[in-house]
Amino acid sequence: MSGHGDAQPMKSRKSGPLKGVASVPGDKSISHRSLIFGAMAVGETKISGLLEGQDVLDTASAMRAFGATVTRHGEGAWTVNGVGVGGFREPSDVIDCGNSGTGVRLIMGTMATTPITATFTGDASLRKRPMGRVTDPLALFGARAYGRQGGRLPMTIVGATNPVPVRYALPVASAQVKSAVLLAGLNAPGETVVIEKEPTRDHSERMLLGFGAKLSVERDGNQGHVITLTGQPELRPQTVAVPRDPSSAAFPVCAALIVEGSDILVPGVSQNLTRNGLYLTLVEMGAEIEFQNPREEGGEPVADLRVRFSGDMKGIEVPPERAPSMIDEYPILSVVASFATGKTVMRGVKELRVKESDRIDAMARGLEACGVRIEEDEDTLIVHGMGPGGVPGGATCATHIDHRIAMSFLVLGLASKASVGVDDGSPIQTSFPIFEGLMRGLGAEIERG
Ligand code: S3P
Repeated sequence: MSGHGDAQPMKSRKSGPLKGVASVPGDKSISHRSLIFGAMAVGETKISGLLEGQDVLDTASAMRAFGATVTRHGEGAWTVNGVGVGGFREPSDVIDCGNSGTGVRLIMGTMATTPITATFTGDASLRKRPMGRVTDPLALFGARAYGRQGGRLPMTIVGATNPVPVRYALPVASAQVKSAVLLAGLNAPGETVVIEKEPTRDHSERMLLGFGAKLSVERDGNQGHVITLTGQPELRPQTVAVPRDPSSAAFPVCAALIVEGSDILVPGVSQNLTRNGLYLTLVEMGAEIEFQNPREEGGEPVADLRVRFSGDMKGIEVPPERAPSMIDEYPILSVVASFATGKTVMRGVKELRVKESDRIDAMARGLEACGVRIEEDEDTLIVHGMGPGGVPGGATCATHIDHRIAMSFLVLGLASKASVGVDDGSPIQTSFPIFEGLMRGLGAEIERG
């Protein structure tokens, strides 16, 4: 969709108080994994609450191409009839993962220890992103990768005929790389071990256990983990209830914090410690967020968030070790920071440069165009807050085929003095297809054109 279709300019303007309930769609990370793990199990996996964004739909198509039967029964209700670990067949055509780094990297891992060949591509954004971080460890299993210079897509992976288990220390804090190695390890004999120095989202570990894999997680000295997976299990199909996406919830939450008079409820937001860094940071800044009704849903700790306009938020120094638990939320945090008093310092964020776009650059340029003072270097973004209502706005920002950049600037415009445009809002379909309607339902003035 994004990058293939026509650009959809959008804009937002200063809005009255946001009110009501914002029920955001299913978690993107868990949605991809339920389809992929379901395809590796023998029998029928039932999924409810699946995110029907383009990224996940592309993963569903890919699983069909590898031989699984994937069926939609109604909104968010899907089944996957899996082919078993090692049961993938060779796809007859190129696998197009669209905009999704998670999709392509996890699927490469899954097929890399099966003796088949597959060629992967994606949209203009995904074709710029580094795949070497995944193909390097996959080579240790015996897989071979042939891609463009710099390890870019399109890329062909020749799966290992006699895979060997691997012990791999992650050189970057990346749940995608961790998951790709674990998925490859599923079809290698013996024990595959992944060592992560900094904890990243743990959905693969939790879900693989649920699907019946033998996996253990031990603490490694400080913060880190040693994850040991025993290969060649028979995975059992599961019933997966996908919880709502905390990364999508971030947009209405942050909008309510900066739009005067707002008071909204965002139900069922994951409080998984590997995902909740933004919410900790907002509270430290002085955001008025109440975490109501804590409970478990779909195997994840969740709470209902009551969020009110917060007129006295202060800029803070975000602890760099928090980055993995809020990696997708720095763009929207930089919007909130623009309406805080004082500066917000985000260090240790160079991974943002290899997301759907270079998110440090995209946010810095757009915020500057809207009158916000920014400092940046390779690994740092600093936003000088202008106080409540203090952002001039009045610019059209480039989104670089990046859903989170598009949504961030549309939220910025809801509280800026002059309206804010984005050159292309179509990528929002990849992760939050109901964004526009949901935000308008709260009273946000967002329109197309
Ligand atoms: C994801 C991991 C993160 C995140 C992405 C989803 C996942 O990427 O940015 O949106 O589902 O594993 P990295 O693991 O590369 O940091």
